[in-house]
This record gives sequence, C-alpha cells and structure tokens, in this order.
Amino acid sequence: MDIKRQEQTPLLTAIKNYVASNPIPFDVPGHKMGRLHNEFTDFVGEMVFKADVNAPLGIDNLYKATGVIKQSSDLFADAYDADEAIFLINGTTSGIMTMIMGVVNAKEKIILPRNVHKSVINALIVSGAYPIFVQPDIDEELGIANGVSVDNYVKTMDENPDAKAIFVINPTYFGIVSDLRTIVKEAHKRDMIVLVDEAHGSHLQFNDNMPYSAMESGADVCALSMHKTGGSLTQSSVLLIKNDRVDYKRILRAYTMFGSTSPSHLLLASLDAARKKMVFEGKALLDNCLEMARKAREELNNTPGLECLDRTYCNQKSGCYDFDETKLVVKVNGLGLSGFEVYKILRLDYNIQVELAEVNLILAIVSIGTLQSDVDALVAALKDISRRFYREDNQKQVPVLKHGFPAIMIRPREAYHAPYKTVKIEEALGQISTESLMVYPPGIPLVIPGEYISQEVVDLYQYYVTNGGVIMSDSLPGFVKVIDQENWKEDEDYY
Ligand SMILES: Cc1ncc(COP(=O)(O)O)c(C=O)c1O
Repeated sequence: MDIKRQEQTPLLTAIKNYVASNPIPFDVPGHKMGRLHNEFTDFVGEMVFKADVNAPLGIDNLYKATGVIKQSSDLFADAYDADEAIFLINGTTSGIMTMIMGVVNAKEKIILPRNVHKSVINALIVSGAYPIFVQPDIDEELGIANGVSVDNYVKTMDENPDAKAIFVINPTYFGIVSDLRTIVKEAHKRDMIVLVDEAHGSHLQFNDNMPYSAMESGADVCALSMHKTGGSLTQSSVLLIKNDRVDYKRILRAYTMFGSTSPSHLLLASLDAARKKMVFEGKALLDNCLEMARKAREELNNTPGLECLDRTYCNQKSGCYDFDETKLVVKVNGLGLSGFEVYKILRLDYNIQVELAEVNLILAIVSIGTLQSDVDALVAALKDISRRFYREDNQKQVPVLKHGFPAIMIRPREAYHAPYKTVKIEEALGQISTESLMVYPPGIPLVIPGEYISQEVVDLYQYYVTNGGVIMSDSLPGFVKVIDQENWKEDEDYY
C-alpha cells in the first residue's frame, strides 16, 4: 500500500472545493445546494444540501470514472490489496447483484450456502443461474446458521465440477467465518471463481486479531458494506476485485444495471473519508473495540441467565473457523425471555437499540464509533434485566427450532416467472413457492422461489409471526404465492 497517497481524499476534496466556489446551480437536484429551506434542511443543516451535488464539472462520473472518483476508488483498492474497487450507492445488495450477474450466466451453476441474504436470491432470479446449495453449520439451540465447513464445500464442488463460481459469507451476521483461505484454494484448484459477501466485514482488513478478510484470503470478488462497520454513510458499499479470474469489463457492465444514474455524492464522499480513517486509525480503533467487547463479554458471562459467544465457540463446530469478536452475540433465553422480548425491553426501558433479535439471542455490534460509556450502559441494562427477570425455578423454555432448508424443485427464475396463486400459508404445504419469505432481521429466507414448502417452513413462519419476528414477502401476512400447477407449463427453456 502506498501509505503517503492514502492521506488523499480526492472526491471529498473536489466536493469541498466545488461548494467553496459557491457556484450558481442550474442543474439538479432541485433544492439548489440548500437554497430551498424546509423542515429537513432545518433538521440536518444546510451543508448536507450544499454537498448534495449531482455531477458538476470536475466531480467525475461514477459509471465512467476517469477523474476524482477513479482516484478515490483506486486508493480504496490499494487499501484493501485489491486490483479494482467499484463504489456502490445501493449497498452491498447491489454489489451482490453485480458480482453474480457479472460472473455467472443463465443456467450456469453457482454453489452457495442456503443462509444467504435476499439480494443473492434476487440475483439468481435476474441472472437465471442454477443454485447448488451447500449446508451451513446450524446451531439449533441458538437458532442460527453459521459458516460452511471446508469438507461441505469440497464435497459439493466435487459433485458439481461444472459449477462456475462459489459464494461464501465472510462473516455471517453473527460474526462467524468459514475457513475462507482453504475454501478459496480448493475452488481455484477446480477453476471456480470465489465471490464473497463481506457485508459485515469491512473492518476485517485492518486488524490482525480479526478473522481474515476476503482479499487477504485470495477471493476474486467481494462486496463490503463500509456503512455497517467502516464508518461511512448508510447504503455506501464497495465491490473489490482481483483481476486474475474474472472479466472486470463484464462486471462493470452489470454494475450499471443496479445503481441510480443520480448517485448520491454524500455517500460516495463518505467512503473516501471512511477509507482514510481506517487506514490510519483502524488498527487502534479496532483494538479498542476488541477490548471493550471482551470486557463486556466477561461481565455478561458472569450474569445469571446470560451467555456470550466467543472464539471458543468455534472449536466445537466444523463450520466455524473463526469469530469476529466485535459482534456481541448474547444468548438471553436463560432469563426465561426470548431475544425479541429483550430487544424490546432494552429499547423501551433503557433507550438502547441493539442490531437484532433472534429467538434465543440478541446481537449488539461494537464498532469503531462505539464509546466505552455505551458499552457500560448496555452491560448495566442487561444486568438489570437479569435481576428483574431471572429466576432459577422459572425458566421459560423457548422451543428449539429446526432450521433445515427446503428442497429446491426448479430454478428461482423459472418459479418467479411461473403462473401463481395466493394461498394461506398452511394450505401451501407441499407446493412450490414463487416468492421468498424472509425473516427480518437478518434477511435470511425461510423459503425461496422454486422451493418446496415443507411443514417446517409453515411452522417457522407461524412461530416468527407470533413471536415478533418480521416476515417480508410479496403477499399479505399469513399468505404465500405458490405455483398454479393447473396452468403451469413445466418447460425449462421457456424462461
Ligand atoms: C449477510 C448480508 N449480506 C448482504 C447484506 C446487504 O447489505 P447492504 O445493507 O449494504 O445492502 C446484508 C444486510 O444486512 C447482510 O446481512
């Protein structure tokens, strides 16, 4: 890395200069650099509007970058040891769509874990790729899917030698990583391209006490949500590319399909500053995160009814190679409460917002913006909740849910385009879904288009709805779209 050059922020500097030049704007956006005042301007301040420029002379074009955006993305690539970096204004969601469309053709196979984000399923629909699912390690007690073992990937690659690419999550929402370096080596031996969802791992590159990042592991393409853990504004993400095995031009072509032609330069400029901060202060900031998280974990593990995941969790599970300790995963069902209940109590009684709840746990994310006083408040609140609710003889048992994955009957694209009918969830048993039923957070599907709706899917759907989980789908709550078998012409070439 050229460390001297990393001090530069070409795009941010160009925007600052543009604003300082006080131009008379006859371009869009219509608020004209904050000349128009409204309630929102009063709330966020005029500078947000001044810097919200479109594409004036000197600011470059995101989709054909040759000036300051190109310089900024090159600096980003250098910071992550990638050959290319592409800035994304529609989150890692658009990065995942781009990488799959940019690498896999219709009917080509891609090997991927079943616990993927919604964007991956959408990319399968848009691309027409054929998914080959590989089983992640499931922790039935915690009710979460973890990483995938090397053996499972290798077995699936050997059974599908014609697969074009494999897809890996690094890390999962809960901080678990697979042995990505070995998986990459095995995939490359078989001439397969490695695509990585690093939505929750934009910080991994900057501290040696963290699991390996995608680029450090030799992956070909990865999308990272700089906004989640890297300090940039929400929706700003980056696609990183190593050129050896992928066609960069094809990826660029796909890229233009998934982003607005009016990209927010606030988001883009925030990437510039976030990258610089990480390069120069990331190690120290992340050391501090690790220390805060470790101390919190120690205290919570000594609190009745609470238990936190730590690196030792990885010794017991084949699909857990390592753990990102900045993810504070707290098992709370020992209190006799579900994760959903604790999530609400924290917000309503203690003014604390954690990232998500699952049936048996909550997830708090410690990141470079977290203060020690925030962690102290969280620990104190959880201890108080334990004091209020924990009774040795009053253990409400939260049921252990089985998280198997339904069988795939046809390609997601075929199911998406097939004629459908809308039925009640309990009447859908045994039918093929034409939509995804996603549990939020973390946005992982119970069923995807083309999959069989099993009893387990119906049970999980009803459990999540009753217990405060949010199900996102195309249909009204309680309903699902399934293939209308009477009018369905099962013909692969049709779609
Ligand atoms: C595992 C995973 N992948 C991808 C995404 C999409 O990232 P983004 O919100 O940056 O679009 C998310 C979002 O939460 C996620 O959890």
